[in-house]
Amino acid sequence: MTERILIIGSGAREHSIAAALARSPQQPELLCFGTARNPGIAALTCAYSTGNITDPIAVTAFAREHKPTLAIIGPEAPLAAGVADALWSAQISTVGPTQSLARIESSKSFTRTLLDRHHIPGNPIFQRFTSLDGVEALLDRLGENHVIKDDGLAAGKGVKVFGDHLNTRAESLAFCKELLALGHPFVIEEKLEGEEFSLLSFTDGFTLRHMPAVQDHKRAFNGDRGPNTGGMGSYTDANGSLPFLTPADIAVAHRTNEHVIAALHRDLNEPYRGILYGGFIATRNGVRLIEYNARFGDPECLNLLSLLETDLVAICRAIVSSTLYSLDVDFTPAATVCKYLVPEGYPDHPRKGDPVPVPDPTNLPSTTTVYLGSVDIKQVETNGVVDDTLVSAGSRTLAVVSCGPSIPAAEPLCESALRNIHGPFFHRSDIGTSALISRRIDHMNSLRSVARSS
Ligand code: AMP
Ligand code: GLY
Repeated sequence: MTERILIIGSGAREHSIAAALARSPQQPELLCFGTARNPGIAALTCAYSTGNITDPIAVTAFAREHKPTLAIIGPEAPLAAGVADALWSAQISTVGPTQSLARIESSKSFTRTLLDRHHIPGNPIFQRFTSLDGVEALLDRLGENHVIKDDGLAAGKGVKVFGDHLNTRAESLAFCKELLALGHPFVIEEKLEGEEFSLLSFTDGFTLRHMPAVQDHKRAFNGDRGPNTGGMGSYTDANGSLPFLTPADIAVAHRTNEHVIAALHRDLNEPYRGILYGGFIATRNGVRLIEYNARFGDPECLNLLSLLETDLVAICRAIVSSTLYSLDVDFTPAATVCKYLVPEGYPDHPRKGDPVPVPDPTNLPSTTTVYLGSVDIKQVETNGVVDDTLVSAGSRTLAVVSCGPSIPAAEPLCESALRNIHGPFFHRSDIGTSALISRRIDHMNSLRSVARSS
């Protein structure tokens, strides 16, 4: 049977998913239902439609017309909107959890209470609020070490960290009031200090197959300065760990993901089928949990799928048929560095509509790949000839991923591809450099030495 796989979503993450599926020896037919027409994905698919990907009726209508044998959901919003539930109801096996299970990402308090109820270590001190009652008392207890989070999906904009986005107690209280005025419950939690990393696992709800650890870079500018973004770039190391982590840190992250999948099954009595993304932080007191996501990370997915040796189609099939126990999932023991090119002004006031000079793959080393993200096609007239031109659409424009035997071998390949792209765009030149990685290692060493001496 030829697999016919529907990809939901149209960013660089979904482009990398499409490319990994297209590499399969099974030669699947690919379909896409996305927010925009991504030419990178369109080149790999036999049917493509744009629409509201969070509308279960629109997605299932496309699916009924094109009859996929499998679907994979890229972003969080369709998961939170119940698109996986609707696809399963339409008899389409889907990689991506149901709405109820996707609360692991869509509700911060759901996740924190799940961990507590099942005695899974990793939570900071936290409390959920639906009014200002008790807020002052918790702020008294935590002092400046606090973070305030909208208890729902807010596309990265619902989290404010004291010292970064909040500078006085009055600002913290004002943010709480702002959330209440919108009718949003919120969580206040202890601020954790350390180095963040992502540990993703494929799971059919019973078995987990862990992926290499990845580090994303949320801040817009070099040196971790500027506003938070969807993620400016990420790297993995050849040994599957990261230079500032110990084998024990990785083991804790694996165990936490495993316990969470078992706890979800026990509480909700349905298997979590998809990708579980643990957002962890290594602190002086060990590994703690920042958040869970119910999907591949973007950009982490681009690093991970560049290394995936096992057929992604076989993995998706095993996920939906609860047979992941019978499949080994292997990754190439190489390092990867991924960097996003973004429009000037991103993320707050991005330029849009500028032509995107995509590097010609024949001019790139075979270990470097470009994935298209937030782009659009515009008809541009030059000398009376109207041509379709690829233009930027405002969010992360394109990503470059390079592989190599080590991070210092991969990073310059990525950087040289980006440096040859001219126009009103920028990227973080420091991601994956030895200078930045040494800072991470020094930071972690100083935290661990304080822990040892106290
Ligand atoms: P989240 O949406 O929960 O991933 O939060 C976005 C970012 O806020 C994270 O990547 C962290 O950098 C930061 N953050 C969230 N929770 C905490 C915490 N408890 N302590 C320190 N930083 C946090
Ligand atoms: N890389 C962060 C995210 O996908 O949420």
